[in-house]
Amino acid sequence: MTGAGDRRPVGGGASRGAHGDPILTLRGVGKAFDNGVTALSGLDMEIRDGEFLSLLGPSGCGKSTALRLIAGLSAPTSGVIDHARPAAERHSIGFVFQEPTLMPWASVFGNVHLPLRLKGQSRRAAEPAIEEALERVGLAGFRDAYPRELSGGMKMRVSIARALVTRPSLLLMDEPFAALDEITRFKLNNDLLALWKQLGCTVVFVTHSVFESVFLSTRILVFRARPGQVAAEIAIDPHVPRDEAFRTSADYAGMCRRTSQALAAAMGESAGGGGLA
Ligand SMILES: Nc1ncnc2c1ncn2[C@@H]1O[C@H](COP(=O)(O)OP(=O)(O)OP(=O)(O)O)[C@@H](O)[C@H]1O
Ligand SMILES: [Mg+2]
Repeated sequence: MTGAGDRRPVGGGASRGAHGDPILTLRGVGKAFDNGVTALSGLDMEIRDGEFLSLLGPSGCGKSTALRLIAGLSAPTSGVIDHARPAAERHSIGFVFQEPTLMPWASVFGNVHLPLRLKGQSRRAAEPAIEEALERVGLAGFRDAYPRELSGGMKMRVSIARALVTRPSLLLMDEPFAALDEITRFKLNNDLLALWKQLGCTVVFVTHSVFESVFLSTRILVFRARPGQVAAEIAIDPHVPRDEAFRTSADYAGMCRRTSQALAAAMGESAGGGGLA
């Protein structure tokens, strides 16, 4: 890892060949809402092909707002978002929300079918893709279950399968595991890393958790409090195996300490100060 606060660019995405080039760049991006709240101001950041990028910051600093802008779900009120490729060749996006937001009246199969149904694909036509997505998240045997029959971790897996079913090359995740117990969270962290490696996609992962961001990421952007901006960039060697040995290692503890310090410094720099999220 480079030092906390070091803005030196680093190559993201382990063993991804030519990957690592920017696919999307935000330049001086701001977002002010009608109610007078300025969520983001002068946000500069880029997303690099194949990386696992975490956006880390305190509650209310504009992480979800940034993710929505990246997804194209809302438009910036200042600055620009540059895409490396023309619209027709652009990455397809999968979005995983903080809450699983499943339709309670539909089965697991029906829930995962939704994005394809919206594209006009029948259940039968979509079935192979749905089965594959369920297989990937370890829910192959649960296609006919209903959300009420699933644990929180299983619901989140369904939500991830729903994002994967369109085979996105850019996966945006907004604190997907925040509501889960630690053991389930660790398990889903491991599964997510395996998926990322298997699929070769780019992940942008919003989190409050220093520990989660260090475990998962090849790069972390630490946000300062509202209006959100990048205060520090932390690169983590993508070649370090992310396993239980890593999670309990002195190296991991050291990286977490440095990341916490970067977060504390970012809070100190912000207008209102405040505590760690
Ligand atoms: N649609 C909206 N209209 C008005 N204000 C909004 C809107 N969405 C977000 N905000 C405000 O913008 C700021 C940033 O919100 P955002 O949800 O991006 O923060 P966050 O970093 O994701 O926080 P958390 O970690 O708690 O999810 C907050 O002050 C919030 O109240
Ligand atoms: Mg949020």
